[in-house]
Amino acid sequence: MWCCCLTCIVLYKCGSEVTMGRSSKDKRDIYYRLAKEEGWRARSAFKLLQLDLEFNLFTGVSRAVDLCAAPGSWSQVLSRKLRGQEGKGDAGEEVKIVAVDLQAMAPLPGVTQIQGDITKVSTAQEIIRHFEGQPADLVVCDGAPDVTGLHDVDEYIQAQLLLAALNITTHVLKPGGTFVAKIFRGKDVTLLYSQLKIFFSGVTCAKPRSSRNSSIEAFVVCQNYSPPDGYVPNMSNPLLDHSYDVDFNQLEGPNRVIVPFLACGDLSAFDSDRTYPLELNADKPYQYTPPTQPPIRPPYQQACHLRKNNLLSREDAPSNQSQEEADPPDESSSKEQSEQCV
Ligand SMILES: C[S@@+](CC[C@H](N)C(=O)[O-])C[C@H]1O[C@@H](n2cnc3c(N)ncnc32)[C@H](O)[C@@H]1O
Repeated sequence: MWCCCLTCIVLYKCGSEVTMGRSSKDKRDIYYRLAKEEGWRARSAFKLLQLDLEFNLFTGVSRAVDLCAAPGSWSQVLSRKLRGQEGKGDAGEEVKIVAVDLQAMAPLPGVTQIQGDITKVSTAQEIIRHFEGQPADLVVCDGAPDVTGLHDVDEYIQAQLLLAALNITTHVLKPGGTFVAKIFRGKDVTLLYSQLKIFFSGVTCAKPRSSRNSSIEAFVVCQNYSPPDGYVPNMSNPLLDHSYDVDFNQLEGPNRVIVPFLACGDLSAFDSDRTYPLELNADKPYQYTPPTQPPIRPPYQQACHLRKNNLLSREDAPSNQSQEEADPPDESSSKEQSEQCV
């Protein structure tokens, strides 16, 4: 999800507090800061890079799908790894990367974008069309819903995103291919593991160092796509809900699906739950770096605009005049909003 919090909105309000607010986030979140310094659109880039260090995800891969891709740091990783640093490696001509998200995303070299909902059949069909005849080698999904704070609901919606991604994967992935997806390790996670094990011979739950320990987020790395004999991909299965009943998740012994858990990386990597000093290196003084690519049309844009113009609490606001007409957001305000994200 876009990383944006009300604290930042307050800190960005007046000039003298701007530097403090910005550098304080740089201090609190080392991966946020490194992402800006290394030119990634989001700190999530490090999660995929760290998963790759453990699983060699990109070896032999030239065709990939990035589901739930905005603002696009995983697509950046795919573009750089598959096409080479300059965006045109030896295999540049054959590389195909398709990125999908509900949100609009700024363009990236060599990445075809689809704006749509991955749980909708029409979006799935559009993705599938890109890989007809030539299946993908890798499907990644970093999908996360807008969290409600109600853990059961959040976990359920996240699971539905994962299953939608799996369903699309069964249509586009080549046998032997790899599927990587964000997963919330909630109490019903066993059901998801068992569904994934139907399609992949290797399923590992991995936690990169850049994913906070305090978060239930992890990633399933599913290797060697091998659907059951005679399985015909269709649009409803495995989206079918099966039963999220208590009995299934309480199975014990050999009946319970337990997948290996891997903490990626060693203690030399930065700890995402720690606060680091701004001067990381005595030879290199700290300098604030702005975000690499501000998100375009983020979902919170209107809320920020209303807040900035003090329109949120006005009961007498004219109902027949749109907020845009009343005070169109200027460049600085949209920049201010977008700087809350990476
Ligand atoms: C954590 S962000 C992805 C970050 C991305 N991997 C990156 O590196 O920049 C989660 C994304 O999931 C997207 N998303 C949530 N539900 C979706 C859905 N049903 N269909 C498509 N995208 C969805 C959100 O719009 C959001 O951009």
